[in-house]
Amino acid sequence: MRRTSRCAGRPVYIRSLATYVPPRLLTNADLEKLVDTTDEWILQRTGIRERHIVDPGVATSDLAKEAALEAIRRAGLTPDDIGVIVVGTVTPDMLFPSTACLVQHKIGAHRAWGFDISAACSAFTYALTAGSQLVAAGCHEHALVIGADVMSSIIDYKDRATCVLFGDGAGAVVVSAAAAGEPCLIDFEHEIDGGGGPALCMPAGGSLRPPSHETIDQGLHYVKQDGQAVFKFAVRKTEEIARRIMERNHISADDLDLFVSHQANRRIIMSASEKLGIDPSKVVINIERFGNTTAATIPLALNDAMNEGRLKKGDLVLLCSVGAGFTVGSVLLRWGI
Ligand code: UT7
Repeated sequence: MRRTSRCAGRPVYIRSLATYVPPRLLTNADLEKLVDTTDEWILQRTGIRERHIVDPGVATSDLAKEAALEAIRRAGLTPDDIGVIVVGTVTPDMLFPSTACLVQHKIGAHRAWGFDISAACSAFTYALTAGSQLVAAGCHEHALVIGADVMSSIIDYKDRATCVLFGDGAGAVVVSAAAAGEPCLIDFEHEIDGGGGPALCMPAGGSLRPPSHETIDQGLHYVKQDGQAVFKFAVRKTEEIARRIMERNHISADDLDLFVSHQANRRIIMSASEKLGIDPSKVVINIERFGNTTAATIPLALNDAMNEGRLKKGDLVLLCSVGAGFTVGSVLLRWGI
């Protein structure tokens, strides 16, 4: 007989959360000086006012390190307690070694192994699933799950269609075994649709088109996006994946305490949550201050919700994401902090 939840093994929970964004701000006014755009257009079409971006020489592992060390500290643990590090990112410091290896070294997690997950904007939901299931299976006591991206490293600041959208940031959680009867991760539901690849990608720099003068001249090392196609897919799939995981777990929109969707566009989140019948008071939107930080948006949103007192221990929370690939993700959980 099919079990209700896809989660296997012992119950696990998010034991701590921390985030980090670089101090430098890139405002809509700054972008008005770079490309033919306006604060009004950006705000109306996306909901973004400003985003944080790194200074030259600062990489994804640097942002991840800050969030990771704080998450470990808040968990009451030390880096040596971490068994596995899972980093979701689409902007690794380099193709290899993995960012997980770089983070492991930078934070001194001497007993951990780890790996990266490439799922673009769904990277946090996927990394959370991978890391938490390793703890649930009893392979490790504590997993460090990170979503981090330096999107400014792959953005063409001459392309107004993409440069206004993205920012840099990192979020980290420690996942540990939950005590009996305590809040825990409940279920996950993910899918991919490789047919959507061309709609959002970085065409060059990999094995298909290794970097060359030609690829650089054509700007193929930057993010390319068919915005409208991605927008429509994101609204449709956010609703679809949310319905599927709620139905499987016999819960309705009214049962949810908080809906935390990937922050790509305010209109996507509003539209999907309206279709789902989720009360706006339960929807977290903080894209205004961070833009789309890809793998980091969900932890950044959870962190803001906690700080604003909107997220408390025991709350029923639905995380949803849609990203390049296409990747689609959702995690249903009871908040344990
Ligand atoms: O996280 C990964 C997933 N990514 C997403 O979910 C992003 C999904 N897509 C979107 O959020 C939206 O499609 C965008 C924000 C990217 C674009 O918004 P839109 O309402 O779909 O605009 P559009 O692409 O249809 O463009 C409308 C007009 C065009 O001008 P014309 O052809 O009507 O004269 C664009 O050239 O807006 C123009 N435009 C801009 N104008 C001022 C595009 N970008 C800008 C800009 N400033 N930055």
